[in-house]
Amino acid sequence: MPTRRGRLRAIRASATWALALLAVAVAAGAQGLDGLLSADGWVPQPGERAQLALDLDGHATEFRLLKHHEGTSIIFAVRDRASGRDVAVVKTNSLSTNVSAEIYAWRLAVVLGCPEVVAPVSPVTLSGRSLAKLRDLLAGVSYGASRKEDARREVLAELDRVLAAGRGLPGAIKPWLDCFVQNRRLGTRELFAATDAAAWLRAGGPRPGDGIVALSQVSALQEPTGIHLGRLPARRLAADLADIMLLDALMGQDDRFAGGNLHVWRDGGERRRVGGAPDMPLWDLGEVRLLALDNGAALRPGLNTGLRDLRGEIHPGVRAERFDRRVVDRLRELRRQTAGADSARVWERLGLVGKRAELAARRLDEVLAHLDGLEAVVGEQIWLPDPELRDRRWP
Ligand SMILES: Nc1ncnc2c1ncn2[C@@H]1O[C@H](COP(=O)(O)OP(=O)(O)OP(=O)(O)O)[C@@H](O)[C@H]1O
Ligand SMILES: [Mg+2]
Repeated sequence: MPTRRGRLRAIRASATWALALLAVAVAAGAQGLDGLLSADGWVPQPGERAQLALDLDGHATEFRLLKHHEGTSIIFAVRDRASGRDVAVVKTNSLSTNVSAEIYAWRLAVVLGCPEVVAPVSPVTLSGRSLAKLRDLLAGVSYGASRKEDARREVLAELDRVLAAGRGLPGAIKPWLDCFVQNRRLGTRELFAATDAAAWLRAGGPRPGDGIVALSQVSALQEPTGIHLGRLPARRLAADLADIMLLDALMGQDDRFAGGNLHVWRDGGERRRVGGAPDMPLWDLGEVRLLALDNGAALRPGLNTGLRDLRGEIHPGVRAERFDRRVVDRLRELRRQTAGADSARVWERLGLVGKRAELAARRLDEVLAHLDGLEAVVGEQIWLPDPELRDRRWP
């Protein structure tokens, strides 16, 4: 049995340890914002390096269009010929998909200190052989009478224009994800409104405790089909949701709650088969995070659905009134950095120029004004419990 003095020493030691960890986290956070925005260009993050190194023009990679049901934009998977494995996807501009919004979403998440809720995205310019590979693929399919067919025709026409002009086609490249699944319940307003998680985000509502939340999703279309299971701490889930809803309001995201645009993932993980029937296998994704995978429908003038959701103006049960304090602190710091004479350069680091940068600056002001107004009314209720300082007795 430890003595009372021994126990006190242990408590003091663990408190010192927690404070030391906190100091490191705070220092890393502050350094991150400055280091990222004052450099000559965007500093590619570790998650971007593998996709930036891919030789899209060479023989080492081959392309394959995603299937009809896999979204309406034109996305192709990049396969490494030697291993036969998919390694990346490239999304192109079409209809409502805006490549620079995909890039901005990732960079904004990095700058605000919540990169885990967005998959790494880097800009690519398709030219030479990669353009020819994509052209062959697009010319060889048809998607019937659908929005995807409209997108195919639009990309094909743009491709012919850039080929004739000797230019390149802009795209957004992301790593191929192996361990993820959409979450319909959290990604559909009517279903989400009825969850505990939605209540945690409302000022005056219950707070997420120290428990673990289990998430499940039956997937009939996305491969592998079956029942997908994942779990994460309640505090983490609340913070991830708040971070995504805040990012959406900042980007002017118009398509988050369409049903298939909110995912859970385990970065770098693999799903394990843990049973189920032959036609309905059970997959375990392990400890997951929420993922805003599809960020193409953003940065458009007009309605900001993301901000309207934050305010609860679209569905009364869906609103975010509690936030992750670290992220909001960094947001205020970002506003300071984009308010000065150097603002165009800072926006350029984030991938935005001209009208898009102006729009993003306006969104930033709108969201911060909203947060200030909300804090004046709800006070400390605006903060979620810190997702990192959870009870360490969990398995
Ligand atoms: N990085 C990735 N790795 C593996 N699969 C992916 C990846 N990105 C997208 N997909 C697959 O493609 C689907 C569509 O992706 P996404 O939602 O980004 O495209 P979209 O066409 O813009 O969708 P929407 O129809 O909602 O506008 C995803 O649900 C997923 O199944
Ligand atoms: Mg989508």
